[in-house]
Amino acid sequence: MNKKNEPFTQLPAYGKLKDHYVRVKNLHMRRLFSVDPNRFKKFSVKHNGLLLDYSKNRITTETIPLLCDLAREANLEQWRERMFRGDKINNTENRAVLHTALRNCSDKPVYVRNKDIMPEIRSVIDKMQYFSEKIRTGEWKGHTGKRITSIINIGIGGSDLGPKMVYQALRPYHHKKLRVYFVSNVDGVHIDEILEPLNPETTLVIISSKTFTTQETLSNAYVAREWLLQRLNDEKAIAKHFVAVSTNKKAVQAFGIDSQNMFEFWDWVGGRYSLWSAIGLSIVIAVGSDNFNKLLLGANEMDEHFQEAPFEQNMPVIMALLGIWYNNFFKTESHGIFPYDDYLRSLPMYLEQADMESNGKSVDRNGRKVDYPTGPIIWGTSGINGQHAFYQSLHQGTKMIPADFIISLKTHSHYQEQHNILFSNALAQTEALMRGRNIDETYADIQASKHRPVTGISKRINHMVFEGNNPTNTLLIDKLSPRTLGSLLALYEHKIFVQGVIWNLNSFDQWGVELGKQLAKQILNDIHQPYGTRSHDASTNALVNYYRDTITENSAIRA
Ligand code: F6P
Repeated sequence: MNKKNEPFTQLPAYGKLKDHYVRVKNLHMRRLFSVDPNRFKKFSVKHNGLLLDYSKNRITTETIPLLCDLAREANLEQWRERMFRGDKINNTENRAVLHTALRNCSDKPVYVRNKDIMPEIRSVIDKMQYFSEKIRTGEWKGHTGKRITSIINIGIGGSDLGPKMVYQALRPYHHKKLRVYFVSNVDGVHIDEILEPLNPETTLVIISSKTFTTQETLSNAYVAREWLLQRLNDEKAIAKHFVAVSTNKKAVQAFGIDSQNMFEFWDWVGGRYSLWSAIGLSIVIAVGSDNFNKLLLGANEMDEHFQEAPFEQNMPVIMALLGIWYNNFFKTESHGIFPYDDYLRSLPMYLEQADMESNGKSVDRNGRKVDYPTGPIIWGTSGINGQHAFYQSLHQGTKMIPADFIISLKTHSHYQEQHNILFSNALAQTEALMRGRNIDETYADIQASKHRPVTGISKRINHMVFEGNNPTNTLLIDKLSPRTLGSLLALYEHKIFVQGVIWNLNSFDQWGVELGKQLAKQILNDIHQPYGTRSHDASTNALVNYYRDTITENSAIRA
Protein backbone atom coordinates (compact mmCIF):
# COMPACT_ATOMS: atom_id res chain seq x y z
CA MET A 1 0.00 0.00 0.00
CA ASN A 2 1.36 3.43 -0.84
CA LYS A 3 0.79 6.50 1.31
CA LYS A 4 -2.47 7.55 -0.35
CA ASN A 5 -3.69 3.94 -0.48
CA GLU A 6 -4.01 4.15 -4.25
CA PRO A 7 -3.54 1.28 -6.69
CA PHE A 8 0.00 1.24 -7.99
CA THR A 9 -1.29 2.19 -11.43
CA GLN A 10 -2.03 5.67 -10.03
CA LEU A 11 1.53 6.27 -8.88
CA PRO A 12 3.60 8.91 -10.73
CA ALA A 13 6.28 6.33 -11.59
CA TYR A 14 3.68 4.09 -13.21
CA GLY A 15 2.65 6.95 -15.52
CA LYS A 16 6.30 7.55 -16.43
CA LEU A 17 6.79 3.85 -17.08
CA LYS A 18 3.78 3.84 -19.38
CA ASP A 19 5.35 6.59 -21.51
CA HIS A 20 8.69 4.83 -21.35
CA TYR A 21 7.07 1.60 -22.49
CA VAL A 22 5.76 3.30 -25.63
CA ARG A 23 9.31 4.41 -26.41
CA VAL A 24 11.02 1.07 -25.87
CA LYS A 25 8.45 -1.57 -26.75
CA ASN A 26 9.63 -1.90 -30.35
CA LEU A 27 13.36 -1.72 -29.68
CA HIS A 28 15.15 -4.92 -30.52
CA MET A 29 17.65 -6.21 -27.94
CA ARG A 30 20.04 -7.14 -30.74
CA ARG A 31 20.32 -3.42 -31.53
CA LEU A 32 20.62 -2.48 -27.85
CA PHE A 33 23.59 -4.85 -27.54
CA SER A 34 25.22 -3.58 -30.70
CA VAL A 35 25.14 0.05 -29.58
CA ASP A 36 26.23 -0.63 -26.02
CA PRO A 37 29.11 -3.05 -25.44
CA ASN A 38 28.82 -2.45 -21.69
CA ARG A 39 25.33 -3.84 -21.42
CA PHE A 40 26.38 -6.94 -19.50
CA LYS A 41 28.37 -4.85 -17.04
CA LYS A 42 25.50 -2.44 -16.56
CA PHE A 43 22.83 -5.06 -16.17
CA SER A 44 24.32 -7.77 -14.02
CA VAL A 45 24.70 -8.23 -10.29
CA LYS A 46 26.60 -10.76 -8.18
CA HIS A 47 25.96 -11.95 -4.68
CA ASN A 48 26.99 -14.94 -2.62
CA GLY A 49 27.82 -17.38 -5.39
CA LEU A 50 25.02 -16.19 -7.66
CA LEU A 51 25.42 -14.05 -10.75
CA LEU A 52 22.30 -12.53 -12.27
CA ASP A 53 22.71 -11.37 -15.85
CA TYR A 54 19.60 -9.44 -16.80
CA SER A 55 21.06 -7.70 -19.82
CA LYS A 56 18.97 -9.84 -22.19
CA ASN A 57 15.83 -7.97 -21.19
CA ARG A 58 13.87 -5.36 -23.12
CA ILE A 59 15.18 -2.49 -21.06
CA THR A 60 17.32 0.59 -21.52
CA THR A 61 19.33 2.47 -18.92
CA GLU A 62 16.17 4.42 -18.06
CA THR A 63 14.00 1.39 -17.29
CA ILE A 64 15.50 0.13 -14.04
CA PRO A 65 15.63 3.57 -12.31
CA LEU A 66 11.97 4.13 -13.25
CA LEU A 67 11.00 0.69 -11.95
CA CYS A 68 12.95 1.34 -8.75
CA ASP A 69 11.02 4.60 -8.33
CA LEU A 70 7.84 2.59 -8.64
CA ALA A 71 9.03 0.28 -5.85
CA ARG A 72 9.88 3.28 -3.66
CA GLU A 73 6.53 4.92 -4.31
CA ALA A 74 4.81 1.63 -3.43
CA ASN A 75 6.62 1.86 -0.06
CA LEU A 76 8.67 -1.26 -0.55
CA GLU A 77 11.23 -0.20 2.08
CA GLN A 78 8.53 0.10 4.74
CA TRP A 79 6.86 -3.18 3.81
CA ARG A 80 10.19 -4.97 3.88
CA GLU A 81 10.88 -3.59 7.34
CA ARG A 82 7.43 -4.57 8.51
CA MET A 83 7.89 -8.16 7.34
CA PHE A 84 11.30 -8.62 8.99
CA ARG A 85 10.24 -7.08 12.27
CA GLY A 86 7.18 -9.33 12.60
CA ASP A 87 4.25 -7.01 11.91
CA LYS A 88 1.07 -8.90 11.07
CA ILE A 89 1.29 -8.25 7.34
CA ASN A 90 -0.79 -11.37 6.62
CA ASN A 91 -3.87 -9.28 7.40
CA THR A 92 -6.60 -11.76 6.44
CA GLU A 93 -5.22 -14.34 8.89
CA ASN A 94 -3.95 -11.76 11.37
CA ARG A 95 -0.46 -13.28 11.35
CA ALA A 96 3.13 -12.18 11.15
CA VAL A 97 5.26 -13.50 8.29
CA LEU A 98 8.55 -14.62 9.73
CA HIS A 99 10.11 -17.42 7.73
CA THR A 100 13.15 -15.14 7.70
CA ALA A 101 13.46 -15.56 11.50
CA LEU A 102 13.96 -19.30 10.98
CA ARG A 103 17.28 -18.53 9.32
CA ASN A 104 18.26 -15.57 11.46
CA CYS A 105 21.91 -16.36 12.05
CA SER A 106 22.56 -13.20 14.04
CA ASP A 107 21.94 -12.70 17.75
CA LYS A 108 19.21 -10.12 17.02
CA PRO A 109 15.88 -10.90 18.72
CA VAL A 110 12.67 -11.16 16.68
CA TYR A 111 9.42 -10.38 18.45
CA VAL A 112 5.96 -11.86 18.03
CA ARG A 113 3.34 -10.66 20.50
CA ASN A 114 6.13 -8.98 22.52
CA LYS A 115 8.04 -12.25 22.95
CA ASP A 116 11.42 -13.00 21.39
CA ILE A 117 10.82 -16.09 19.24
CA MET A 118 14.49 -16.88 18.61
CA PRO A 119 14.99 -19.14 21.69
CA GLU A 120 12.00 -21.26 20.64
CA ILE A 121 13.26 -21.51 17.06
CA ARG A 122 16.70 -22.56 18.25
CA SER A 123 15.29 -25.14 20.59
CA VAL A 124 13.29 -26.79 17.76
CA ILE A 125 16.35 -26.71 15.50
CA ASP A 126 18.35 -28.38 18.29
CA LYS A 127 15.66 -31.02 18.72
CA MET A 128 15.61 -31.71 14.97
CA GLN A 129 19.37 -31.95 14.86
CA TYR A 130 19.58 -34.21 17.90
CA PHE A 131 16.94 -36.54 16.49
CA SER A 132 18.45 -36.54 13.00
CA GLU A 133 21.88 -37.42 14.36
CA LYS A 134 20.37 -40.42 16.12
CA ILE A 135 18.84 -41.61 12.86
CA ARG A 136 22.02 -40.92 10.90
CA THR A 137 24.30 -42.73 13.33
CA GLY A 138 21.91 -45.67 13.74
CA GLU A 139 21.51 -44.98 17.45
CA TRP A 140 17.74 -44.68 16.97
CA LYS A 141 16.42 -48.21 16.57
CA GLY A 142 13.08 -49.32 15.21
CA HIS A 143 10.63 -51.38 17.24
CA THR A 144 12.42 -54.65 16.49
CA GLY A 145 15.87 -53.21 17.18
CA LYS A 146 16.93 -52.55 13.59
CA ARG A 147 18.40 -49.27 12.38
CA ILE A 148 16.33 -46.94 10.21
CA THR A 149 17.30 -46.87 6.53
CA SER A 150 14.17 -45.48 4.84
CA ILE A 151 12.32 -42.30 5.69
CA ILE A 152 8.94 -41.42 4.21
CA ASN A 153 7.78 -37.81 4.34
CA ILE A 154 4.00 -37.68 4.04
CA GLY A 155 2.78 -34.17 3.27
CA ILE A 156 1.47 -32.04 0.44
CA GLY A 157 1.99 -28.53 -0.97
CA GLY A 158 4.47 -26.66 1.20
CA SER A 159 4.86 -29.71 3.41
CA ASP A 160 6.15 -31.69 0.44
CA LEU A 161 7.39 -29.56 -2.45
CA GLY A 162 10.09 -27.68 -0.51
CA PRO A 163 11.69 -30.64 1.28
CA LYS A 164 11.43 -32.83 -1.83
CA MET A 165 13.04 -30.23 -4.06
CA VAL A 166 15.88 -29.55 -1.57
CA TYR A 167 16.40 -33.29 -1.01
CA GLN A 168 16.85 -33.80 -4.76
CA ALA A 169 18.98 -30.69 -5.14
CA LEU A 170 21.40 -31.77 -2.42
CA ARG A 171 21.86 -35.33 -3.66
CA PRO A 172 25.67 -35.23 -3.40
CA TYR A 173 25.37 -34.41 0.31
CA HIS A 174 23.10 -37.33 1.20
CA HIS A 175 23.86 -39.86 3.91
CA LYS A 176 24.88 -42.98 2.04
CA LYS A 177 22.76 -45.41 4.05
CA LEU A 178 19.54 -43.44 4.17
CA ARG A 179 16.92 -42.84 1.55
CA VAL A 180 14.01 -40.43 1.77
CA TYR A 181 10.72 -40.94 -0.09
CA PHE A 182 7.98 -38.37 -0.49
CA VAL A 183 4.30 -39.23 -0.58
CA SER A 184 1.85 -36.46 -1.40
CA ASN A 185 -0.83 -37.71 -3.76
CA VAL A 186 -3.97 -39.19 -2.29
CA ASP A 187 -4.09 -41.50 -5.30
CA GLY A 188 -3.46 -44.80 -3.53
CA VAL A 189 -0.96 -45.93 -6.14
CA HIS A 190 1.49 -43.32 -4.91
CA ILE A 191 1.78 -44.64 -1.38
CA ASP A 192 1.34 -48.24 -2.55
CA GLU A 193 4.36 -48.05 -4.81
CA ILE A 194 6.47 -46.47 -2.10
CA LEU A 195 5.48 -48.82 0.70
CA GLU A 196 5.63 -51.97 -1.37
CA PRO A 197 9.42 -52.53 -1.41
CA LEU A 198 10.01 -51.11 2.09
CA ASN A 199 10.47 -52.94 5.35
CA PRO A 200 8.45 -51.39 8.19
CA GLU A 201 11.10 -52.47 10.70
CA THR A 202 13.61 -50.09 9.11
CA THR A 203 11.23 -47.30 8.06
CA LEU A 204 10.52 -43.99 9.74
CA VAL A 205 7.43 -42.04 8.71
CA ILE A 206 7.37 -38.25 9.09
CA ILE A 207 3.87 -36.82 8.89
CA SER A 208 4.35 -33.22 7.82
CA SER A 209 1.31 -31.01 8.01
CA LYS A 210 1.10 -27.49 9.33
CA THR A 211 -2.58 -27.85 10.16
CA PHE A 212 -2.69 -31.63 10.59
CA THR A 213 -6.17 -31.50 9.05
CA THR A 214 -5.27 -31.89 5.37
CA GLN A 215 -7.39 -34.74 4.05
CA GLU A 216 -4.86 -36.27 1.64
CA THR A 217 -2.00 -36.17 4.16
CA LEU A 218 -4.02 -37.68 6.99
CA SER A 219 -5.49 -40.34 4.78
CA ASN A 220 -1.99 -41.33 3.57
CA ALA A 221 -0.78 -41.24 7.18
CA TYR A 222 -3.49 -43.72 8.21
CA VAL A 223 -2.56 -46.01 5.32
CA ALA A 224 1.08 -45.97 6.47
CA ARG A 225 0.03 -46.58 10.07
CA GLU A 226 -2.10 -49.54 9.04
CA TRP A 227 0.74 -50.93 6.90
CA LEU A 228 3.12 -50.76 9.83
CA LEU A 229 0.74 -52.18 12.43
CA GLN A 230 -0.30 -55.06 10.22
CA ARG A 231 3.31 -56.12 9.96
CA LEU A 232 4.67 -55.27 13.39
CA ASN A 233 1.51 -56.12 15.27
CA ASP A 234 2.10 -53.79 18.17
CA GLU A 235 0.73 -50.28 18.82
CA LYS A 236 3.94 -49.49 20.69
CA ALA A 237 5.78 -49.58 17.36
CA ILE A 238 4.19 -46.21 16.47
CA ALA A 239 6.52 -44.40 18.87
CA LYS A 240 9.61 -45.72 17.10
CA HIS A 241 8.40 -45.34 13.53
CA PHE A 242 6.20 -42.22 13.40
CA VAL A 243 7.04 -38.60 14.05
CA ALA A 244 5.05 -35.50 13.18
CA VAL A 245 5.84 -31.96 12.12
CA SER A 246 2.99 -29.60 12.81
CA THR A 247 1.60 -26.56 14.54
CA ASN A 248 -1.36 -28.62 15.83
CA LYS A 249 -0.35 -30.53 18.96
CA LYS A 250 -3.86 -31.78 19.74
CA ALA A 251 -4.42 -33.37 16.34
CA VAL A 252 -0.97 -34.97 16.43
CA GLN A 253 -1.77 -36.54 19.78
CA ALA A 254 -5.17 -37.67 18.50
CA PHE A 255 -3.36 -39.50 15.71
CA GLY A 256 -1.41 -41.39 18.37
CA ILE A 257 1.93 -39.63 18.18
CA ASP A 258 3.52 -38.66 21.45
CA SER A 259 4.29 -34.93 21.66
CA GLN A 260 7.92 -35.91 22.35
CA ASN A 261 7.99 -37.11 18.77
CA MET A 262 6.47 -33.94 17.45
CA PHE A 263 8.52 -31.15 15.93
CA GLU A 264 6.77 -27.87 16.27
CA PHE A 265 6.48 -24.81 14.12
CA TRP A 266 4.29 -21.76 14.24
CA ASP A 267 1.41 -19.99 12.52
CA TRP A 268 3.75 -17.21 11.37
CA VAL A 269 5.46 -19.67 8.97
CA GLY A 270 3.46 -19.95 5.75
CA GLY A 271 3.18 -23.50 4.34
CA ARG A 272 5.02 -22.62 1.13
CA TYR A 273 7.74 -20.83 3.14
CA SER A 274 8.22 -23.66 5.63
CA LEU A 275 11.14 -25.74 4.42
CA TRP A 276 13.38 -23.73 6.76
CA SER A 277 11.33 -24.88 9.75
CA ALA A 278 10.81 -28.37 11.19
CA ILE A 279 9.18 -29.18 7.83
CA GLY A 280 12.82 -29.51 6.77
CA LEU A 281 13.31 -32.51 9.08
CA SER A 282 13.70 -34.95 6.19
CA ILE A 283 16.37 -32.63 4.76
CA VAL A 284 18.34 -32.57 8.04
CA ILE A 285 18.18 -36.36 8.25
CA ALA A 286 19.39 -36.71 4.67
CA VAL A 287 22.17 -34.10 4.60
CA GLY A 288 23.03 -33.59 8.28
CA SER A 289 22.95 -30.58 10.59
CA ASP A 290 26.01 -28.85 9.19
CA ASN A 291 24.61 -28.81 5.70
CA PHE A 292 21.17 -27.73 6.90
CA ASN A 293 22.81 -24.87 8.78
CA LYS A 294 24.60 -23.87 5.59
CA LEU A 295 21.27 -23.86 3.76
CA LEU A 296 19.90 -21.51 6.43
CA LEU A 297 23.03 -19.40 6.25
CA GLY A 298 22.77 -19.02 2.47
CA ALA A 299 19.16 -17.90 2.84
CA ASN A 300 20.11 -15.51 5.62
CA GLU A 301 22.81 -13.98 3.43
CA MET A 302 20.19 -13.32 0.75
CA ASP A 303 17.89 -11.83 3.42
CA GLU A 304 20.65 -9.42 4.35
CA HIS A 305 21.34 -8.53 0.75
CA PHE A 306 17.62 -7.91 0.20
CA GLN A 307 17.48 -5.64 3.25
CA GLU A 308 20.67 -3.73 2.61
CA ALA A 309 21.49 -3.44 -1.09
CA PRO A 310 20.18 -0.37 -2.91
CA PHE A 311 17.24 -1.33 -5.13
CA GLU A 312 19.30 -0.78 -8.28
CA GLN A 313 21.71 -3.55 -7.19
CA ASN A 314 19.30 -5.68 -5.26
CA MET A 315 18.85 -9.09 -6.91
CA PRO A 316 15.34 -9.95 -5.71
CA VAL A 317 14.13 -6.39 -6.30
CA ILE A 318 15.48 -6.35 -9.84
CA MET A 319 14.00 -9.75 -10.70
CA ALA A 320 10.65 -8.69 -9.27
CA LEU A 321 10.61 -5.39 -11.13
CA LEU A 322 11.47 -7.03 -14.43
CA GLY A 323 8.55 -9.37 -13.81
CA ILE A 324 6.28 -6.34 -13.27
CA TRP A 325 7.65 -4.74 -16.44
CA TYR A 326 6.53 -7.70 -18.54
CA ASN A 327 3.38 -8.61 -16.64
CA ASN A 328 1.92 -5.12 -16.40
CA PHE A 329 3.31 -3.29 -19.41
CA PHE A 330 4.00 -5.92 -22.07
CA LYS A 331 1.03 -7.91 -20.66
CA THR A 332 2.80 -11.25 -20.79
CA GLU A 333 0.92 -14.01 -19.02
CA SER A 334 3.47 -16.53 -17.91
CA HIS A 335 7.03 -16.86 -16.71
CA GLY A 336 9.28 -19.83 -17.44
CA ILE A 337 11.73 -21.42 -14.99
CA PHE A 338 14.32 -23.52 -16.77
CA PRO A 339 17.03 -25.01 -14.56
CA TYR A 340 19.99 -26.41 -16.50
CA ASP A 341 20.97 -28.55 -13.54
CA ASP A 342 19.26 -31.86 -13.15
CA TYR A 343 19.41 -31.64 -9.38
CA LEU A 344 17.10 -28.63 -9.66
CA ARG A 345 14.52 -30.48 -11.73
CA SER A 346 11.79 -29.96 -9.11
CA LEU A 347 12.47 -26.24 -8.74
CA PRO A 348 9.80 -25.21 -11.30
CA MET A 349 7.13 -27.16 -9.42
CA TYR A 350 8.23 -25.72 -6.09
CA LEU A 351 8.12 -22.19 -7.53
CA GLU A 352 4.69 -22.80 -9.02
CA GLN A 353 3.33 -23.06 -5.51
CA ALA A 354 5.58 -20.40 -3.99
CA ASP A 355 4.63 -17.82 -6.58
CA MET A 356 1.11 -18.70 -7.72
CA GLU A 357 -0.30 -19.45 -4.27
CA SER A 358 1.20 -16.16 -3.10
CA ASN A 359 0.34 -13.77 -5.89
CA GLY A 360 -2.40 -15.49 -7.90
CA LYS A 361 -5.01 -13.10 -6.52
CA SER A 362 -7.52 -10.68 -7.96
CA VAL A 363 -8.45 -8.80 -4.79
CA ASP A 364 -5.97 -6.43 -3.13
CA ARG A 365 -5.07 -6.47 0.56
CA ASN A 366 -8.00 -4.16 1.28
CA GLY A 367 -10.46 -6.52 -0.40
CA ARG A 368 -10.86 -4.39 -3.54
CA LYS A 369 -10.98 -6.05 -6.94
CA VAL A 370 -7.82 -5.12 -8.85
CA ASP A 371 -7.95 -3.82 -12.42
CA TYR A 372 -4.41 -4.85 -13.36
CA PRO A 373 -2.83 -8.25 -13.93
CA THR A 374 -1.17 -9.81 -10.87
CA GLY A 375 0.89 -13.00 -10.51
CA PRO A 376 1.90 -14.69 -13.76
CA ILE A 377 1.54 -18.38 -14.55
CA ILE A 378 4.79 -19.97 -13.42
CA TRP A 379 5.85 -23.07 -15.26
CA GLY A 380 8.89 -24.92 -16.52
CA THR A 381 10.99 -28.01 -16.52
CA SER A 382 14.67 -28.86 -16.59
CA GLY A 383 16.17 -26.91 -19.44
CA ILE A 384 17.67 -29.41 -21.76
CA ASN A 385 14.52 -31.55 -21.76
CA GLY A 386 12.37 -28.51 -22.42
CA GLN A 387 14.43 -27.75 -25.53
CA HIS A 388 13.07 -30.92 -27.10
CA ALA A 389 9.52 -30.21 -26.01
CA PHE A 390 8.14 -26.68 -25.82
CA TYR A 391 11.04 -24.38 -26.79
CA GLN A 392 9.69 -24.25 -30.36
CA SER A 393 6.94 -22.05 -28.99
CA LEU A 394 9.36 -19.83 -27.06
CA HIS A 395 11.29 -19.14 -30.26
CA GLN A 396 8.57 -18.90 -32.87
CA GLY A 397 5.21 -18.86 -31.09
CA THR A 398 2.94 -15.82 -30.84
CA LYS A 399 3.34 -15.33 -27.09
CA MET A 400 6.23 -13.66 -25.36
CA ILE A 401 7.36 -15.76 -22.40
CA PRO A 402 10.00 -14.18 -20.17
CA ALA A 403 12.09 -16.86 -18.50
CA ASP A 404 14.85 -17.57 -16.01
CA PHE A 405 17.69 -19.82 -17.11
CA ILE A 406 19.43 -21.22 -14.04
CA ILE A 407 22.81 -22.81 -14.65
CA SER A 408 25.53 -24.19 -12.37
CA LEU A 409 29.09 -23.33 -13.32
CA LYS A 410 30.65 -26.35 -11.67
CA THR A 411 29.13 -29.77 -11.90
CA HIS A 412 28.92 -32.52 -9.29
CA SER A 413 29.18 -35.10 -12.04
CA HIS A 414 32.39 -36.78 -13.27
CA TYR A 415 31.53 -35.99 -16.85
CA GLN A 416 32.91 -32.53 -17.57
CA GLU A 417 32.18 -32.73 -21.29
CA GLN A 418 28.53 -33.48 -20.58
CA HIS A 419 28.51 -30.34 -18.46
CA ASN A 420 30.14 -28.33 -21.25
CA ILE A 421 27.34 -29.47 -23.56
CA LEU A 422 24.69 -28.57 -21.01
CA PHE A 423 26.19 -25.14 -20.40
CA SER A 424 26.57 -24.40 -24.14
CA ASN A 425 22.97 -25.32 -24.74
CA ALA A 426 21.68 -23.03 -22.03
CA LEU A 427 23.60 -20.03 -23.36
CA ALA A 428 22.73 -20.90 -26.94
CA GLN A 429 19.07 -20.69 -26.02
CA THR A 430 19.29 -17.31 -24.32
CA GLU A 431 21.37 -15.99 -27.22
CA ALA A 432 18.92 -17.31 -29.79
CA LEU A 433 15.94 -15.99 -27.86
CA MET A 434 17.54 -12.56 -27.68
CA ARG A 435 19.11 -12.23 -31.17
CA GLY A 436 16.84 -14.34 -33.29
CA ARG A 437 17.91 -14.90 -36.90
CA ASN A 438 16.81 -12.52 -39.62
CA ILE A 439 16.07 -13.47 -43.20
CA ASP A 440 19.53 -12.62 -44.58
CA GLU A 441 21.23 -14.62 -41.85
CA THR A 442 18.86 -17.49 -42.51
CA TYR A 443 19.75 -17.51 -46.23
CA ALA A 444 23.42 -17.31 -45.37
CA ASP A 445 23.16 -20.18 -42.89
CA ILE A 446 21.40 -22.33 -45.46
CA GLN A 447 24.00 -21.56 -48.11
CA ALA A 448 26.80 -22.42 -45.71
CA SER A 449 25.17 -25.64 -44.59
CA LYS A 450 26.40 -28.94 -46.04
CA HIS A 451 22.84 -30.19 -46.11
CA ARG A 452 21.34 -27.20 -47.83
CA PRO A 453 18.15 -27.94 -49.70
CA VAL A 454 18.77 -27.60 -53.40
CA THR A 455 15.37 -26.26 -54.29
CA GLY A 456 12.42 -24.58 -52.62
CA ILE A 457 14.36 -22.43 -50.14
CA SER A 458 12.19 -19.40 -50.72
CA LYS A 459 9.07 -21.36 -49.78
CA ARG A 460 10.57 -22.44 -46.50
CA ILE A 461 12.52 -19.41 -45.50
CA ASN A 462 9.84 -17.77 -43.37
CA HIS A 463 9.58 -20.92 -41.30
CA MET A 464 13.26 -20.70 -40.52
CA VAL A 465 13.43 -17.08 -39.43
CA PHE A 466 13.55 -16.25 -35.70
CA GLU A 467 12.32 -12.83 -34.63
CA GLY A 468 14.18 -12.92 -31.31
CA ASN A 469 13.71 -10.14 -28.77
CA ASN A 470 12.49 -12.65 -26.17
CA PRO A 471 13.61 -11.65 -22.68
CA THR A 472 15.54 -13.93 -20.33
CA ASN A 473 17.42 -13.70 -17.05
CA THR A 474 20.48 -15.88 -16.67
CA LEU A 475 21.28 -16.96 -13.13
CA LEU A 476 24.67 -18.57 -12.77
CA ILE A 477 25.31 -20.54 -9.60
CA ASP A 478 28.98 -21.14 -8.70
CA LYS A 479 28.20 -24.69 -7.63
CA LEU A 480 24.98 -26.11 -6.28
CA SER A 481 25.61 -26.46 -2.54
CA PRO A 482 23.50 -26.03 0.59
CA ARG A 483 24.63 -22.44 0.86
CA THR A 484 24.05 -21.37 -2.75
CA LEU A 485 20.74 -23.23 -2.78
CA GLY A 486 19.65 -21.35 0.35
CA SER A 487 20.46 -18.06 -1.34
CA LEU A 488 18.69 -19.06 -4.55
CA LEU A 489 15.48 -20.00 -2.76
CA ALA A 490 15.44 -16.88 -0.60
CA LEU A 491 16.02 -14.85 -3.77
CA TYR A 492 12.78 -16.18 -5.25
CA GLU A 493 10.89 -15.76 -1.96
CA HIS A 494 11.80 -12.09 -1.86
CA LYS A 495 11.08 -11.61 -5.55
CA ILE A 496 7.56 -12.85 -4.86
CA PHE A 497 7.27 -10.58 -1.82
CA VAL A 498 8.31 -7.47 -3.77
CA GLN A 499 5.80 -8.17 -6.52
CA GLY A 500 3.06 -8.69 -3.94
CA VAL A 501 3.88 -5.30 -2.38
CA ILE A 502 3.66 -3.52 -5.72
CA TRP A 503 0.41 -5.24 -6.66
CA ASN A 504 -0.84 -4.47 -3.12
CA LEU A 505 -1.67 -8.12 -2.40
CA ASN A 506 -1.53 -10.18 0.74
CA SER A 507 0.97 -12.74 -0.58
CA PHE A 508 0.66 -14.91 2.51
CA ASP A 509 -2.88 -16.24 2.56
CA GLN A 510 -4.41 -18.81 0.14
CA TRP A 511 -8.19 -18.60 0.33
CA GLY A 512 -8.39 -19.77 -3.26
CA VAL A 513 -7.67 -23.37 -2.27
CA GLU A 514 -10.59 -23.62 0.16
CA LEU A 515 -13.68 -23.94 -2.02
CA GLY A 516 -12.45 -27.04 -3.83
CA LYS A 517 -11.56 -28.72 -0.52
CA GLN A 518 -15.05 -28.00 0.82
CA LEU A 519 -16.82 -29.31 -2.29
CA ALA A 520 -14.65 -32.44 -2.38
CA LYS A 521 -15.91 -33.35 1.09
CA GLN A 522 -19.50 -32.93 -0.11
CA ILE A 523 -18.90 -35.04 -3.21
CA LEU A 524 -17.19 -37.77 -1.18
CA ASN A 525 -20.22 -37.84 1.03
CA ASP A 526 -22.50 -38.09 -2.05
CA ILE A 527 -20.48 -41.03 -3.38
CA HIS A 528 -21.12 -42.92 -0.17
CA GLN A 529 -24.90 -42.42 -0.27
CA PRO A 530 -27.14 -45.29 -1.40
CA TYR A 531 -28.93 -42.96 -3.84
CA GLY A 532 -27.82 -40.63 -6.64
CA THR A 533 -27.09 -36.99 -5.93
CA ARG A 534 -29.10 -34.01 -7.20
CA SER A 535 -27.48 -31.35 -5.12
CA HIS A 536 -25.00 -30.01 -7.70
CA ASP A 537 -25.24 -28.68 -11.25
CA ALA A 538 -26.32 -31.10 -13.99
CA SER A 539 -22.77 -31.86 -15.09
CA THR A 540 -21.41 -32.55 -11.60
CA ASN A 541 -24.48 -34.59 -10.63
CA ALA A 542 -24.19 -36.76 -13.72
CA LEU A 543 -20.45 -37.33 -13.24
CA VAL A 544 -20.77 -38.13 -9.53
CA ASN A 545 -23.59 -40.56 -10.23
CA TYR A 546 -21.73 -42.17 -13.14
CA TYR A 547 -18.76 -42.73 -10.83
CA ARG A 548 -20.98 -44.00 -8.02
CA ASP A 549 -22.70 -46.46 -10.36
CA THR A 550 -19.36 -47.68 -11.70
CA ILE A 551 -17.86 -48.40 -8.31
CA THR A 552 -21.11 -49.95 -7.03
CA GLU A 553 -21.22 -52.17 -10.12
CA ASN A 554 -17.56 -53.12 -9.62
CA SER A 555 -18.09 -54.01 -6.00
CA ALA A 556 -21.21 -56.02 -6.95
CA ILE A 557 -19.12 -57.94 -9.50
CA ARG A 558 -16.39 -58.52 -6.92
CA ALA A 559 -18.95 -59.69 -4.34
O1 F6P B 1 -4.10 -26.43 0.02
C1 F6P B 1 -3.06 -25.54 0.11
C2 F6P B 1 -2.28 -25.69 1.38
O2 F6P B 1 -2.95 -25.12 2.44
C3 F6P B 1 -0.90 -25.11 1.21
O3 F6P B 1 -0.83 -23.77 1.43
C4 F6P B 1 -0.09 -25.94 2.16
O4 F6P B 1 1.25 -25.86 1.84
C5 F6P B 1 -0.69 -27.29 1.93
O5 F6P B 1 -2.05 -27.05 1.69
C6 F6P B 1 -0.50 -28.29 3.01
O6 F6P B 1 -1.09 -27.91 4.21
P1 F6P B 1 -0.72 -28.61 5.57
O7 F6P B 1 0.75 -28.49 5.78
O8 F6P B 1 -1.50 -27.90 6.62
O9 F6P B 1 -1.12 -30.07 5.47
